[in-house]
Amino acid sequence: MRVILFLSLAVATAIGAVIERSPIYLNKEVSSSAGPAVLQPYMSYSIEFCYFPDYAGNKSNPNQFSNQLLDNLAAIQGTKPYIRVGGNTQDYALYNASLEYAINGTIIPSKSEDYPYILYIGPSFFESYSTWPDTKFIHGYNLGKNGSDSLKSLLDTVPLVCKALQGGKLAYWELGNEPDLYKTSSQGIVRPANWTEQGYVDEWLSKSRKIRAALAKSCPEMAADENYKYIAPSFAGLRNSLDPVKTWEDGLDSDKNIALNSEHDYMGGATQPGVTLQGTLMNHTATVNNVNPFKNLSRVLAAKNLTTDIPLILGEHNSLYNEGAPGLSNAFGAALWGIDWNLYAASQGIQRQHMHQGTDYRYASWQPVQTEKTTLGTKPPYYGNIFVAEMVRGGSNVQIMNLPLSNETEAAYAAYVNGQLTRFAVVNLVEYNYTDSDPTATRPSVSYSFQLPSGIGSVSVQRLMANGSNSISGITWDGYSYNYELAGGKPVRLSNVTVGETARVDKDGVVNINVPYSSAVLLTVNHGGGSA
Ligand SMILES: *[C@@H]1O[C@H](CO)[C@@H](O)[C@H](O)[C@H]1NC(C)=O
Ligand SMILES: *[C@@H]1O[C@H](CO)[C@@H](O)[C@H](O)[C@H]1NC(C)=O
Ligand SMILES: *[C@@H]1O[C@H](CO)[C@@H](O)[C@H](O)[C@H]1NC(C)=O
Ligand SMILES: *[C@@H]1O[C@H](CO)[C@@H](O)[C@H](O)[C@H]1NC(C)=O
Ligand SMILES: *[C@@H]1O[C@H](CO)[C@@H](O)[C@H](O)[C@H]1NC(C)=O
Ligand SMILES: *[C@@H]1O[C@H](CO)[C@@H](O)[C@H](O)[C@H]1NC(C)=O
Ligand SMILES: *[C@@H]1O[C@H](CO)[C@@H](O)[C@H](O)[C@H]1NC(C)=O
Ligand SMILES: *[C@@H]1O[C@H](CO)[C@@H](O)[C@H](O)[C@H]1NC(C)=O
Ligand SMILES: *[C@@H]1O[C@H](CO)[C@@H](O)[C@H](O)[C@H]1NC(C)=O
Ligand SMILES: *[C@@H]1O[C@H](CO)[C@@H](O)[C@H](O)[C@H]1NC(C)=O
Ligand SMILES: *[C@@H]1O[C@H](CO)[C@@H](O)[C@H](O)[C@H]1NC(C)=O
Ligand SMILES: *[C@@H]1O[C@H](CO)[C@@H](O)[C@H](O)[C@H]1NC(C)=O
Repeated sequence: MRVILFLSLAVATAIGAVIERSPIYLNKEVSSSAGPAVLQPYMSYSIEFCYFPDYAGNKSNPNQFSNQLLDNLAAIQGTKPYIRVGGNTQDYALYNASLEYAINGTIIPSKSEDYPYILYIGPSFFESYSTWPDTKFIHGYNLGKNGSDSLKSLLDTVPLVCKALQGGKLAYWELGNEPDLYKTSSQGIVRPANWTEQGYVDEWLSKSRKIRAALAKSCPEMAADENYKYIAPSFAGLRNSLDPVKTWEDGLDSDKNIALNSEHDYMGGATQPGVTLQGTLMNHTATVNNVNPFKNLSRVLAAKNLTTDIPLILGEHNSLYNEGAPGLSNAFGAALWGIDWNLYAASQGIQRQHMHQGTDYRYASWQPVQTEKTTLGTKPPYYGNIFVAEMVRGGSNVQIMNLPLSNETEAAYAAYVNGQLTRFAVVNLVEYNYTDSDPTATRPSVSYSFQLPSGIGSVSVQRLMANGSNSISGITWDGYSYNYELAGGKPVRLSNVTVGETARVDKDGVVNINVPYSSAVLLTVNHGGGSA
């Protein structure tokens, strides 16, 4: 199919196979409809606390594969992803100074089959902070456990973690994961029903002050005002048993030590009835509906002047909670969802995002170690992460603008660097299940037209491709594979994929680009030298 977006304000009409719609105009300079400049590194990760040693390894056994995948992103976006070490198991972890290895975890299947409910960490856990050069971390302290023993355990870890993060490795601290679920979680209720926003704030302030006092003894420079910073409140959602707005009103930032307003998000649940690739993930409307409440939160907080100068980030998110669904979260279609979600989020004021990872998790961007359940390797979502990093390439002043399209199976974005149009992208979200498709038929595609501002000579084209939305291997970005089997995660250019495409800009400044179903394309403008 060919869809031509005519360069007029013509109302949508259809003539046979050719559909006429409003054109996509691109302004040379950024407008107020773009999001604020993203914080670099925009593409960041969250790693489940108990699986951090798998992802990072330890001093005698650093995980070089993970490091390579992080370096690939640094080479594109300019900074290695920030790593938040946290999640549900952050609030289960207790310290055992005698434990001779990093993790002693016991899975209780009725709580979760995917991670331990009983968890002790030993001193060598903190070695994992030393294996990735030039990486900054957010360490998640336990707030969930509520007895006096657990407070001692928390404070006992302060000297170890602060020494592990000295020398520029600390980005921020976090105290508590999703406390808005403490009164209701099916994985264990850890606070009484009368625990309020004020109760949470009082507890957060009290414990964070104790952590600071412990730091003042062990790592004094980290207790200084300018260095002692948190992300908070790390709520699971905006409508659970604690209200984020009330939390700020009740004085969460009384000590002026919250650097980033962090919230968590998923599109739905892995086993939720009705969740599908096309309907839930490859669906721009669903993504817009999922992101917009965060924009509302920002608006409400701004109106009340509660988080002025505290940017909003997503400290943990991914496709489907409960660690993702096989066939959905690990398929190429989920990589396309990740592009759409992360670029839409950037266009709506979410300034950084951390995609959540864990060993054997279905939505993981990569599996860091070989297990009985999962092959070590780069997974399709990673390729979406690469695309997002490419869109935010360019330093500290990159803004993403949403270019609204009429169908819920397509999305387009422009990136402005220092206020100037630099690149734009189209994500085609029409599901193309290649195993269900007629192998002799041509894969359908859609042709988009963009009206460029004057002075652009040509446009170079890079594509994110796979055989279909259900592919779990054979993904390429601009002809590169990052698969473990090829070069341990280093980019390897494959010889059987077309690259080096350029798109002609016609005399009226129009460029046409064909986008196959279930694929994404990124176009970079080459200023000057053209006739238009
Ligand atoms: C702490 O580790 C030691 C040494 O492995 C072990 O004997 C002890 O049972 C552990 N304590 C707990 C509470 O797990
Ligand atoms: C370091 O990692 C290796 C490989 O996972 C493991 O065998 C070893 O026990 C770890 N060392 C410590 C001190 O935890
Ligand atoms: C590991 O944790 C389990 C459950 O708490 C405990 O029974 C066991 O003794 C611990 N093992 C060590 C070596 O700490
Ligand atoms: C810890 O939380 C549980 C569950 O709400 C509650 O029964 C218990 O009283 C709490 N303990 C403390 C010390 O707050
Ligand atoms: C909450 O309920 C517990 C009993 O479950 C009680 O001891 C405590 O005083 C109550 N706290 C407040 C703030 O009302
Ligand atoms: C896409 O999501 C919207 C909002 O959730 C929903 O109304 C619509 O039915 C979805 N589309 C498909 C094809 O399922
Ligand atoms: C916006 O946020 C406020 C405060 O949390 C809430 O009361 C309101 O319902 C939200 N509106 C929408 C449209 O989500
Ligand atoms: C908003 O809050 C900031 C930081 O707390 C403060 O410096 C500023 O004066 C406040 N502005 C208004 C209009 O209240
Ligand atoms: C619009 O969506 C439908 C499925 O919902 C799809 O068949 C059609 O190809 C899409 N058109 C474009 C231009 O993406
Ligand atoms: C894609 O096709 C395969 C093979 O027919 C099927 O097993 C799978 O469920 C399909 N995937 C989706 C997301 O519909
Ligand atoms: C993708 O399709 C090509 C051409 O049909 C085939 O040779 C290749 O094996 C497929 N790759 C995967 C991972 O299925
Ligand atoms: C391209 O080559 C790679 C590596 O040899 C292979 O795995 C892949 O299936 C090929 N892709 C296509 C589309 O034929």
